[in-house]
Amino acid sequence: MGTVRTAVLPVAGLGTRFLPVTKAVPKEMLPLGDRPCIEYVVAEAVSAGIERIVFVSSRGKDALVDYFDRSPALEAHLEANNKGELLAEVRRIARMAEVVTVRQGEALGLGHAVLTAAPAVGDEPFAVLLGDDVVDSAVPAIGQLIAARAETGAEAVVALMEVPHEHTRRYGVCAGAWESPSRMRVRAMVEKPEPEVAPSDFAIVGRYVLPSRIFSILRSTPRGRGGEVQLTDAIAVLAAEGVVLGQVFDGQRFDTGDVLGLLRASLHFSRKRPELREGVDAILAEFQAGTLGR
Ligand code: G1P
Repeated sequence: MGTVRTAVLPVAGLGTRFLPVTKAVPKEMLPLGDRPCIEYVVAEAVSAGIERIVFVSSRGKDALVDYFDRSPALEAHLEANNKGELLAEVRRIARMAEVVTVRQGEALGLGHAVLTAAPAVGDEPFAVLLGDDVVDSAVPAIGQLIAARAETGAEAVVALMEVPHEHTRRYGVCAGAWESPSRMRVRAMVEKPEPEVAPSDFAIVGRYVLPSRIFSILRSTPRGRGGEVQLTDAIAVLAAEGVVLGQVFDGQRFDTGDVLGLLRASLHFSRKRPELREGVDAILAEFQAGTLGR
């Protein structure tokens, strides 16, 4: 079936929900504690066996590429000052994966962003991870999808999550037949349906494994919701053929796409760090007691 070696990470968005900070800082670089969101997503891909990361980038996102690159001046400085641990960490990040960048010149939608990555992906199955979704799980979420593909022979796998009915308008929504309590053979997919017309409450989270033929489908996918080329619409063509699986993944998903979501994720991932947990809990207790800042 071909190994999944490459992951496409669309990072071209303007980040308007985080203005004004995103005037100068890519939203993917906003931190959960002291690590940018995007590092969690890259780490997930790498721990699932992904070797190449294709960033679909745009103007103003250089900080992101710099982050995963070597930094000779910084490394020399840390070395000269005997900061061995920091040096190792800085180097580890630069070695996480092979990073390739392609530019999406115009913001024409997620489907268009994925299509922009076609020359960098080539004729192989690949993963897509959306940076707004950060997942905390024992087995990497994208790894769960890759395993589902290997086990079932499905051509495409999307991550599913049950959401409150009134939230269907925020997601791509899938309908189909359950093959097991956690696997749906997807037959229909709708991008951001109003609750009245949503075919189910099972939403796509930003993790996909796709065959390379999705590129030719995307080339002929008309603009859909919001006047954009929707990835959901292209995968729906495969779903009609019966080759798409929806995998309800094990793990906690954090939507870091708005300020409160980022804050929630930041608290969660900071509390997971043994050296920070007590301090975070003390801050939360101060909030509860109303003694903060005294
Ligand atoms: C995108 C997809 C949508 C999916 C969502 C998951 O929407 O188009 O199908 O459910 O990501 O986060 P966005 O949130 O980028 O508008």
